[in-house]
Amino acid sequence: MSHAPQPLGAPAVRREGRAKVTGAARYAAERGLPGCLYAWPVPASVPSGRVTAVRTVDALAHPGVHSVLTHDNAPRLAEPDDPILAVLQDDRVPHRGWPVALVIADSLASARAGAAALHITYETNPHDVLLTEDHAGLYTPEEANGGYPAVRERGDFDRAFAEAPVQVDATYTLEPLHNHPMEPHASTAHWSPTGHLTVYDSSQGATKVRDSLAAAFGIGTDRVTAVSEHVGGGFGSKGTPRPQVVLAAMAALHTGHPVELALPRRQMPALVGHRAPTVQRVRLGAEADGTLTSVAQEIITHTSRIKEFVEQAAVPARVMYGSPHSRTTHRVTALDVPSPSWMRAPGEAPGMYALESALDELAAETGVDPVELRLRNDPADEPDSGKPFSSRGLAACLREGAERFGWPDRDPAPGVRREGALLLGTGVASATYPVYASPGHASAHAAPDGTFRIAVNATDIGTGARTVLAQIAADVLGAPLDDVAIDIGDSDLPDAPLAGGSSGTASWGWAVHKAASGLAEKLAARGGPLPAEGVTVTADTTEETAEESPYARHAFGAHFAEVAVDTRTGEVRVRRMLGVFAAGRILNSRTARSQFIGGMTMGIGMALTEGSTLDPVYGDFAECDLASYHVPVCADVAAVDAHWIEEDDPHLNPMGSKGIGEIGIVGAAAAVGNAFRHATGVRVRTLPLTPDRVL
Ligand code: MOS
Repeated sequence: MSHAPQPLGAPAVRREGRAKVTGAARYAAERGLPGCLYAWPVPASVPSGRVTAVRTVDALAHPGVHSVLTHDNAPRLAEPDDPILAVLQDDRVPHRGWPVALVIADSLASARAGAAALHITYETNPHDVLLTEDHAGLYTPEEANGGYPAVRERGDFDRAFAEAPVQVDATYTLEPLHNHPMEPHASTAHWSPTGHLTVYDSSQGATKVRDSLAAAFGIGTDRVTAVSEHVGGGFGSKGTPRPQVVLAAMAALHTGHPVELALPRRQMPALVGHRAPTVQRVRLGAEADGTLTSVAQEIITHTSRIKEFVEQAAVPARVMYGSPHSRTTHRVTALDVPSPSWMRAPGEAPGMYALESALDELAAETGVDPVELRLRNDPADEPDSGKPFSSRGLAACLREGAERFGWPDRDPAPGVRREGALLLGTGVASATYPVYASPGHASAHAAPDGTFRIAVNATDIGTGARTVLAQIAADVLGAPLDDVAIDIGDSDLPDAPLAGGSSGTASWGWAVHKAASGLAEKLAARGGPLPAEGVTVTADTTEETAEESPYARHAFGAHFAEVAVDTRTGEVRVRRMLGVFAAGRILNSRTARSQFIGGMTMGIGMALTEGSTLDPVYGDFAECDLASYHVPVCADVAAVDAHWIEEDDPHLNPMGSKGIGEIGIVGAAAAVGNAFRHATGVRVRTLPLTPDRVL
């Protein structure tokens, strides 16, 4: 792996690593506030309808139970900016799992027992939770997630496809997937006697949590403090506030005590968002040599009754391969399901599974090597916009990956490599993720003793954000890393955007870079010792980040996977996997590698074990815990490695970095699926590749 010599790329160790592994780091539900009560949400046990009565007498009689909140007595909220936060405001049940009561007690056990003693009656409506290709409710939305147009057309796809000498027409289906960060969604809320709300919230962005709570409770943002000091993963599901923080704040207001609420694992799938299921039809028209003439990717997906969220799975097809004729569309239907939301690489992860699987089908159809096929269709400019790329490292990743993986010796014949009862195969797929940056604020302080302190409301969700931001500041200030302290994870610090869209380091880092540069200039301009209070510079990157770039800016990558398929049990195992990425300058080789490998691991889960089923009768997900929703464990991820091509791209941000949090999962499942096809000769167009599907 790469250990770049410059300080910015150095493999600095995580600053909070020791606190985390020794248990000294305190998470949102570990604050131990005096007099703290515990809350247990009660999920609706019908998929659609309304609550007609909540009998609380038995619950309130239970020892330790303090109170029960329902829509009758819960604090009234101003209409929240996100409909999923409008909890306990009325009697409606938009989906199974929606919170209909909250039991507050002096221990977690009492709260849970109180919840079991509630008697809730409902009036039910007929419900529908099944996405089908011909669903009557399907419509074309204005936009898909991320603000992308739902429909894009270039040229004349129908004619070009009809005339293409080689055609691939394949439909891929993906089940819902769930975010299961190790730390569940948790909050501790506390109102001071003067009416100041403090929440410790497991979130990807405390500035947004502060703003949403202030709006919901109708108070100024100066009366709310949101702290997200340590966060045990999020993957998008903590990107914006989730209901638990509102419930905890309500409970604290109602009782006058601090209240702690950690969502039970089984309640998470219905409350924190999920990756929506997709049905994706991909059509590729090509010349006999594999040159694409027409590309269509048409997505069908679901959303909930209360919120439109459209998984933007066709968007990466607008970036990936050259072809004069193209159509990319999204259609959605509102079902009686929990609200879908962000899950690592929303859009790219499911969309690139389908597109990269179809590319593999085209390779088989034309006899062109899958790596060569991708190189042959690597465009000079971004197909959808015609803009030049600021840098495009796909070809370099494919070549470097092929070399390192041993691809050139590959026999393309499917289903011929045996090892006893095992069939072996290898596959490749590309990856891409857009470059984003949002405006942020930061301050940089120089103390008279020669040390520095940086403040920015960034969030470290396990990525190493603290460490990398300190590296950026140290680099600008020319200071040893140990002389730079950093404060993050508190909304009283300078406002900053969330850890999401793989943009955290770019957004926060830009503000830190600007503040540190300003400080360095100020220090250089003045002579003599610093005043006792030191010198502070604050920065705001609203202007810089708003500049429209004339370039198409994306990170790219290539995954290579080898699988073994057991012909007796149907078990598929990844033997080794390699990802090579081109994501601008890598700012910390240790934490970057960990991010890439983490994404790839999630891709292995998507390919082989993770899947969720909406039960049409029950109206909810069948897999609601880690015993039934199988995330990969150590034994599933034997030899996974990540490398990268350092890019020198001056069109990004002052650090020259692209995001790295999400690209690792993009295309990873397709590489595994393509390896499965090479091993067995059988194309399976759905995931996960569990034994029941394989045999
Ligand atoms: Mo990521 S799904 O943008 O937190």
